[in-house]
Amino acid sequence: MTTNDLESAQDASTMIGIIGAGNLGQALARTALRAARKVVISNSRGPESLAPVVAALGAGVSAGTVREAAAASIVAIAVPWSSVPTAVSGLQWHGQTVIDATNAWDAELGGRTSSELVADLVPGARLVKAANTLWAEVLGADPHEAGGRRVIFLSGDDAAAKASVVELFDAAGFFVIDVGDLVTGGRMQQQGAPCQVKTSWGLPQSDSEAQRGPARRTGLWEKANCRGTIVRREQ
Ligand SMILES: NC(=O)c1ccc[n+]([C@@H]2O[C@H](COP(=O)([O-])OP(=O)(O)OC[C@H]3O[C@@H](n4cnc5c(N)ncnc54)[C@H](OP(=O)(O)O)[C@@H]3O)[C@@H](O)[C@H]2O)c1
Repeated sequence: MTTNDLESAQDASTMIGIIGAGNLGQALARTALRAARKVVISNSRGPESLAPVVAALGAGVSAGTVREAAAASIVAIAVPWSSVPTAVSGLQWHGQTVIDATNAWDAELGGRTSSELVADLVPGARLVKAANTLWAEVLGADPHEAGGRRVIFLSGDDAAAKASVVELFDAAGFFVIDVGDLVTGGRMQQQGAPCQVKTSWGLPQSDSEAQRGPARRTGLWEKANCRGTIVRREQ
């Protein structure tokens, strides 16, 4: 094996693939870069359409097809809830860790958690729900703030997959809290549940923004914890 082969094998095992290149996909790319990981980011329109995005994110990020992103060892889904089935349709899953960062705002889930439904769509992958409780602008920024670290909640049924996601976010500077399996923890990360209310609701900048935001629809924004929870370690 040549040095180049070895480097590309190492890249493949630490690469982060991202399906969805909008607000959250780009924030996740910045998180991965903070953790010194390489990123392949994708959308429905093909790699050429992502040239400006890749240029803005900088070195370490390349554009790929959805299939190429899904070949990474950790794959994040960052598409609108209604687009998830189409985005993952036909992909091959053979043990990749899949981060479900979506929010199923106001969707009918038939009594299950949204991540249980996503897990059904990626058979053979190991699903971890994470990174859905911070606004993209907060997720993409330096998590070290006010003498502490911003919190990322995660849940999942596979301990090794969760450990790999903990490692990623910890290396990026976040304080990671595991809230359990996809049923119990996943529910705590959903709309209106404790992890969302305490961490993601940005206080609205204006009345018109408040009228538009999902927090307004649920009436929870007055209880918002502006810009997310920060944990400080005792010295
Ligand atoms: N924005 C936030 O602050 C935030 C915070 C936490 C969680 N989330 C969750 O993150 C998800 C994405 O939100 P967003 O704000 O990033 O949305 P967004 O800015 O509208 O971006 C959506 C991205 O998904 C891509 N996409 C749509 N359908 C696709 C498909 N079939 N295959 C591949 N890519 C597809 C779009 O690419 P095309 O242009 O090719 O369609 C676009 O790049 C949502 O589930 C949201 O609830 C968002």
